[in-house]
Amino acid sequence: MRLLREEADFFSASWEDAAARPDDEWRASAREAEMGTTRTVFIAAEGDSWLGVVGCYLHDQPGSARLVSMWVDPVARRRGIAQALVTAVAQWAAERGCDQVSLVVHERNEPAWRLYERAGFRETGQQEELPHGRGFKRLYSAAVVDLVR
Ligand SMILES: CC(C)(COP(=O)(O)OP(=O)(O)OC[C@H]1O[C@@H](n2cnc3c(N)ncnc32)[C@H](O)[C@@H]1OP(=O)(O)O)[C@@H](O)C(=O)NCCC(=O)NCCS
Repeated sequence: MRLLREEADFFSASWEDAAARPDDEWRASAREAEMGTTRTVFIAAEGDSWLGVVGCYLHDQPGSARLVSMWVDPVARRRGIAQALVTAVAQWAAERGCDQVSLVVHERNEPAWRLYERAGFRETGQQEELPHGRGFKRLYSAAVVDLVR
């Protein structure tokens, strides 16, 4: 939840909506992610401390997975954690027969788009305008083979 409170501009869901979501729904999502069939969550941990998180799910479009909810604790940034999480997502997607991974990133989120471009993602040219003048989210995509290193 820290990611929604502290860096709200960069995520689609709001803290208020997430906090209002019933516990049963959170438990169902967690169970689904734990099974890892159609969605998953990777946590980067050091001892008992969770330093980063990323989610991924199989997209409606066949052969494609969507990377979501990437966040690294500010105290652990620029240590390669997000890059490691991208690699984990790519391996998970490859094991499920995907050849593409896509994601959306806010146009003003330079650390994120630099991370994704360095990892191998490229802009598709598609973008979505956010309400209330909050700017644009751009769609990025990569071939799984370019992400698994
Ligand atoms: C974006 C974010 C996930 C990066 O996490 P991170 O663990 O610090 O990233 P990494 O250490 O794996 O960085 C890998 C590469 O990405 C690029 N990068 C990452 N952060 C950067 C920054 N602040 N400025 C410029 N480039 C950056 C660099 O090329 C970096 O390689 P380098 O350190 O060797 O130069 C992190 O800043 C974050 O959680 N931001 C807030 C949440 C967010 O915006 N999530 C993404 C939503 S789409």
